[in-house]
Amino acid sequence: MKGLILSGGKGTRLRPLTYTSAKQLVPVANKPVLFYGIEALVAAGIREIGIVVGDTRAEIEAAVGNGSRFGASVTYIQQDAPRGLAHAVLISEEFLRGSKFVMYLGDNLLQRGITSLVEEYVRIGVNCEILLTKVPNPSSFGVAELDSEGKVVCLVEKPKEPKSDLALVGVYLFDDSVFDAVKAIRPSARGELEITDAIQWLVDNRRSVQAHLVSGWWKDTGKAEDMLEANRTVLDAVEPSGSPEIEGRSSIEGKVFFEGSPGDVVLINSVIRGPVIIGPGTRIEESFVGPYTAIAAGCRLSGIEIENSIVWEGSSLSDIPLRISDSLIGRGVTIRRRPDMKPKAHRFLVGDNSEIGIGE
Ligand code: TTP
Repeated sequence: MKGLILSGGKGTRLRPLTYTSAKQLVPVANKPVLFYGIEALVAAGIREIGIVVGDTRAEIEAAVGNGSRFGASVTYIQQDAPRGLAHAVLISEEFLRGSKFVMYLGDNLLQRGITSLVEEYVRIGVNCEILLTKVPNPSSFGVAELDSEGKVVCLVEKPKEPKSDLALVGVYLFDDSVFDAVKAIRPSARGELEITDAIQWLVDNRRSVQAHLVSGWWKDTGKAEDMLEANRTVLDAVEPSGSPEIEGRSSIEGKVFFEGSPGDVVLINSVIRGPVIIGPGTRIEESFVGPYTAIAAGCRLSGIEIENSIVWEGSSLSDIPLRISDSLIGRGVTIRRRPDMKPKAHRFLVGDNSEIGIGE
């Protein structure tokens, strides 16, 4: 069994973060979302992994390397443009042919991993198995209609009038028959080779397509609020660990994970209320870090309150009068109060498509 992780695409819904960083490298609880996928494949016994990459190839390669740190061997497969999930399969035929494989979307997170799913697929011997989950808003997803035995009858991408509330989750299992499908289909109205069309082709051409309902949560981290929700869910399972250097009066409440060696995180007169994760080299002074916050390595927090947020490496937040909440803050960002500044004003140096909410 091989793995194919899709890590190209544009990431338009996560701009401006994805102008400078691949969306699959956005950190969830201080770990790139892509790493959860690689680990899930390795946990299911899959060691040969192809990663489809686009414009952000260099960055993904720098982060993942040859896969040895995950116990896997990684082959990079270049996609010239995001021409659709089925196109990613098409260009990976040479790597995949002759082996059953799992296709995993590089920005998806599954709580329970994929081990039991892979075992089931091998055991029941169907051509394709897809993962489904019940959603309240099926019109925003690929939706499947099943027969009474759980076999897939029909798949529709973002239907106006959905026939079920079962949405496709970003994990698919295929054998070689999928290559006939991706070669037979034509680009959709949005110009992409759709994986739903490829699977529908399999159904129409009498290949067996089985559905599997996901137990446990599943997250597609395409948008900012999804990232924060994924971060909350992963942090809920974090175990308290590590020991910071504490100066002055500080308190640590609930589950807090201090990364790095003892003393790598410095707390001065601050309250940390978990679930929280804090990266090495971060210094927190006269601040409150509240539930569901991930602060990456090398940050400086001073005179602030923050909760339900993700802060990437090397950012500096200081002397902000209102609490920061529900925020995604990229790398090397500085936000600080400037009482000396004349005229008294907000002063921004903000990139394209950024979003700033001013509390009062
Ligand atoms: P999507 O979230 O469907 O697409 P996107 O990355 O272009 O995002 P946005 O809608 O915000 O612009 O992609 C799901 C995953 O598959 C994601 O990890 C990117 C990857 N992908 C490819 O590798 N190649 C492709 O052609 C497409 C469409 C997606």
